[in-house]
Amino acid sequence: VMVEKQGFKHYMLKEIYEQPGVVRTCLEVYLRPEWEPQAPYSPVQLGLAPAVLADLEFIQIVACGTSWHASLVGKYLLEQLANIPTSVQYASEFRYAPPPLLPNTLTIGVTQSGETADTLAALEMELSRRQGLEPPLSARLLGITNRPESTLGQLVPAIIDTHAGIEIGVAATKTFVAQLMAFYLLSLELAWQRQTLGGDRLAELVAGLRQLPAQIELILESQERYIEALSHDFSDTQDFIFLGRGINFPIALEGALKLKEISYIHAEGYPAGEMKHGPIALLDAKVPVVTIAMPGSVFEKVLSNAQEARARDARLIGVTPMAEVEAQHTFDDLLPVPEVDELLSPILTVIPLQLLAYHIAARRGLDVDQPRNLAKSVTVE
Ligand code: G6P
Repeated sequence: VMVEKQGFKHYMLKEIYEQPGVVRTCLEVYLRPEWEPQAPYSPVQLGLAPAVLADLEFIQIVACGTSWHASLVGKYLLEQLANIPTSVQYASEFRYAPPPLLPNTLTIGVTQSGETADTLAALEMELSRRQGLEPPLSARLLGITNRPESTLGQLVPAIIDTHAGIEIGVAATKTFVAQLMAFYLLSLELAWQRQTLGGDRLAELVAGLRQLPAQIELILESQERYIEALSHDFSDTQDFIFLGRGINFPIALEGALKLKEISYIHAEGYPAGEMKHGPIALLDAKVPVVTIAMPGSVFEKVLSNAQEARARDARLIGVTPMAEVEAQHTFDDLLPVPEVDELLSPILTVIPLQLLAYHIAARRGLDVDQPRNLAKSVTVE
């Protein structure tokens, strides 16, 4: 398939700009347009056989890299919305030390390419160790991928296709956002089946999902030039810290990974409340701290964690809604995102972090689409 840059300087930037469309496609494919809270059916149509999701007691997710970060957001959603205990493991760890077998367990492999060797091996190991066992211990496998025609697609009986289109940039952007969408849809489907959310809350989240494409567009339109200008300030920076809590902790990890992958700057993502147990020792005026501070369960806590960093002279960059006065006083630089339900916020908070990594790397003249030492898909162990 011929994919062109369509006027963008790099594929990565083009793919960042494709994200509103990717989210829109997921909504069109997987949400029932006519659904309303009183309806006797789910708002979500994933097309999975009922046996895949029935009577679940435990979900274990295996993945690598950016897909592992999407899975951490997924765990948060599956636990908080559908009330199902969920674990997330690096596939490369799971394959050599699988946890004890539990009944009624769904194993989800998340891989945009469907070809990552460790992820495939972890799923094969799960299949083989459950072979011949009767329900409730028999294997139940689901793949979340952008490539249903991949090796993953042949290995597992059930797939959620994320429909993101081919991604060329080695640093995953649109496929990450599409994986998040798959987890929103899966969690809402399970919440509906298990009646763990009221109809009104379900309707609120469905309506919130529908707002996301326009909200991503707004961030891209209003932020890109500012972030490009901001990136000039970091031409000598050697370390970055990214902080987040709750559902935005994985986004701090993802922001740090994007920066490492393409700019070769050392970056660490940390849960903001854990900073005092180590990383705070790194802080001084040379280490910028990017904090994701979204209103919700941990907003005040995150702001006070950011203020601890300020006391060590760190430059504070905040991903936060424009209207939050307290946040404005806390941060030196703001990367504003629209006000949104906390549970939906990762899809928005990751966008400025992608742009920040992109512009810092592009400004340094690096090969953004083909960073050194990395491959788009790692098909060897
Ligand atoms: C490679 C890429 C990463 C990606 C990881 C997992 O290391 O460089 O960007 O996140 O593989 O890829 P997958 O295709 O399994 O999602």
